[in-house]
Amino acid sequence: MELSVNHQALAYLAAAVLFILGLKGLTHPATARRGNLYAMLGMVIAIAATLLGAQVQSYGFIIAGIAIGAVIGAVVAVRIQMTAMPQLVAALHSFVGMAAVLVGIGTFLERSASGGLDALLMSEISAGVVIGAITFTGSVIAFGKLQGLIGGAPVRFAGQHLLNALIALATVALAVHFALTGSLLSLLLMTLLALLLGLTLIIPIGGADMPVIISMLNSYSGWAAAATGFTLHNNLLIIVGALVGCSGAILSYIMCRAMNRSIINVIFGGFGSSGGGGESAGAQAAERGVKSAAVEDAVYWMEDAARVIVVPGYGMAVAQAQHALKELMQQLEGRGVEVRFAIHPVAGRMPGHMNVLLAEADIPYDNVQEMDEINPDFPGTDVVLVVGANDVVNPAAREDASSPIYGMPILEAGRARQVYFLKRSMRPGYSGVDNLLFYQDNTSLIFGDAKDTIEAINAALKGGGH
Ligand code: TAP
Repeated sequence: MELSVNHQALAYLAAAVLFILGLKGLTHPATARRGNLYAMLGMVIAIAATLLGAQVQSYGFIIAGIAIGAVIGAVVAVRIQMTAMPQLVAALHSFVGMAAVLVGIGTFLERSASGGLDALLMSEISAGVVIGAITFTGSVIAFGKLQGLIGGAPVRFAGQHLLNALIALATVALAVHFALTGSLLSLLLMTLLALLLGLTLIIPIGGADMPVIISMLNSYSGWAAAATGFTLHNNLLIIVGALVGCSGAILSYIMCRAMNRSIINVIFGGFGSSGGGGESAGAQAAERGVKSAAVEDAVYWMEDAARVIVVPGYGMAVAQAQHALKELMQQLEGRGVEVRFAIHPVAGRMPGHMNVLLAEADIPYDNVQEMDEINPDFPGTDVVLVVGANDVVNPAAREDASSPIYGMPILEAGRARQVYFLKRSMRPGYSGVDNLLFYQDNTSLIFGDAKDTIEAINAALKGGGH
């Protein structure tokens, strides 16, 4: 069976609508699952319509590629830890970038043999190859930083911006030369320079700004795909590329606002640093004037509370404490305590990380609130339980102009009557900055794995109930 051009166009249209519905679904946790289903259905239609199209001449390589890719993809999908998702996303973006480079160069070689090269096509090839190459090396570096293979600290050197500007200018000049002359040498040099640019743009960026970078590379990968769509005359690829490009750009903007960063600064500034420190708990805490508390203290306060707010962070994901938290919520609600969850836009290691985990534990969406919504309520709250979160409640963001996280909006946990941090040690959070909230009078730290601590709280609450 071979699809006619018209039928293929119709199938592509249906797929494009499904992708748009998919994105729309992903804007709210309640509809995210349905959104994913729409997008998956769209992708099945898109792949089937492409494979049945007249332009496919033999299936051997395609089937082999799909088989190998499906096996690798399935193994990775089953084995990947939720906390390692950002580096997986970075790796996948690098594949999109590399595909755009290969399609661009492949199309050029094929057309220079068969004829049919013109300035327009070569401009499209240039755009796809340049954006694809930047996305490729940028994503490889982002992967290396997130995986801990490359140091997360920002790398700065004199003349960095000038160097980047020069490489960018030379790349554009070669792209123009290639589009006008069809010189293979220009194409290859342009590709090499764009690969280098991806590296020099991303290597200076510190760990704390990585989330925005991942989302920006996501956007770039979309634009690379769109340019490839022009090269291949594939409308669906253009539409999908534009959807990914725009949504990635919007997400980057939202995240920059959430961290009070200017996007230009994130791309060119190279600030922020990676987490570090390796101090021990208890004694160290006392030495530094930090109070540590026992589970019973928290139970005592929570039993009599009217309002409790839980602030989940990366540590909740590490400990997989969401189910224990659900039980805690039910126990407290059974005693007439109002329990809510406060979500900072960059809590965890990827957008929506906390929402996904809380949803997995069936914690109702109505109990989960965003930062701006819940911040005014902290002063009237009896107990805040900070579960494996750190940077997102650090008042240094407000008070210490020299701090790398200065200016980032935070959850105002410190304004509640009593704050308990559930963490394992005195180690700082992702940004490597000491947390000023630890030293506040109304704050205590309960050391230990977050899940173990919450289970102990649950057991104590149950015991107290008898
Ligand atoms: P962090 O500031 O990284 O703090 C996480 C805390 O969890 C750490 O202090 C750690 O302390 C604790 N922890 C780790 N494992 C634990 C366990 N098993 N039990 C209990 N505690 C545990 O996390 P956050 O507050 O969620 O802030 C997120 C940070 O990551 C921000 O700086 C943000 O910019 C950055 N970031 C965000 C994203 C996105 S898009 N959300 C992506 C990448 C980076 P101990 O080691 O002492 O236990």
